[in-house]
Amino acid sequence: MSASKKDYKRITTKTLVEMKSNKEKISMVTAYDYTMAQIVDGAGIDVILVGDSASNVMAGHETTLPITLDQMIYHASSVVRGAKRSLVVVDLPFGSYQSDPKEALRSAIRIMKESGGHSVKLEGGTEIKDSIKKILNAGIPVMGHLGLTPQSIYKFGTYTVRAKEEAEAEKLMKDALFLQKAGCFAIVLEKVPAKLAEQVASQLTIPIIGIGAGNVDGQVLVVNDLLGMTNEFNPRFLRRYLNLHEQITGAISQYVADVKNEDFPSEEEQY
Ligand code: KIV
Repeated sequence: MSASKKDYKRITTKTLVEMKSNKEKISMVTAYDYTMAQIVDGAGIDVILVGDSASNVMAGHETTLPITLDQMIYHASSVVRGAKRSLVVVDLPFGSYQSDPKEALRSAIRIMKESGGHSVKLEGGTEIKDSIKKILNAGIPVMGHLGLTPQSIYKFGTYTVRAKEEAEAEKLMKDALFLQKAGCFAIVLEKVPAKLAEQVASQLTIPIIGIGAGNVDGQVLVVNDLLGMTNEFNPRFLRRYLNLHEQITGAISQYVADVKNEDFPSEEEQY
């Protein structure tokens, strides 16, 4: 069995906690549609995140704030149809869970019922504790998200590394412990110092999935960035495995030329 694709029938929230205790790293990537979900699932990804980064990479917005619950459900239901083995986590979008716990639960239920996703992710710690508990009490698995939380970008004012100062690092540790105690099955830690992330990962029994957070229990990247479809986003943590932007541009330019030159379709490509 290759290291990249172990023989799990279907990854569950329980599998992830077991993977951490067996020191097996967790691979997670975003997807927003059926075709990409099928590809990443077949390649052995453990967790597919239907991220609200769809707002940026699918819809072209500057931030994650504009995407709606209905739009997230549309993306998530397409991904679920393509995911046979991976656990599907769906982001609760901005505005769908912050105002009150009942609304948070209603939003989470809509995601579970209408998309068929397996769990939800939301950003924040103790400040949204009642919403997190309400969703968990309904039997819906929750993944936390701490550190750089893009839905709060207008509060932070910048996308730079979070929790470099002691007070913020202490608050982050407190929030992580709270999320674990409340019953979350994993936490995404975004853009925090590797040393702090390592301390959080070693104090918690639930997996810490990092993005710009060093070598923790697992890693997550936005699939469009990993594949090099985006070419203007160059944070230090990003490793591009392909340069699809260049390759797709080349392929489409060739197609344009072939159509113009009447090279396409050839005799064999006609009925
Ligand atoms: O929406 C997203 O893509 C995310 C990842 C960056 C973790 O939340």
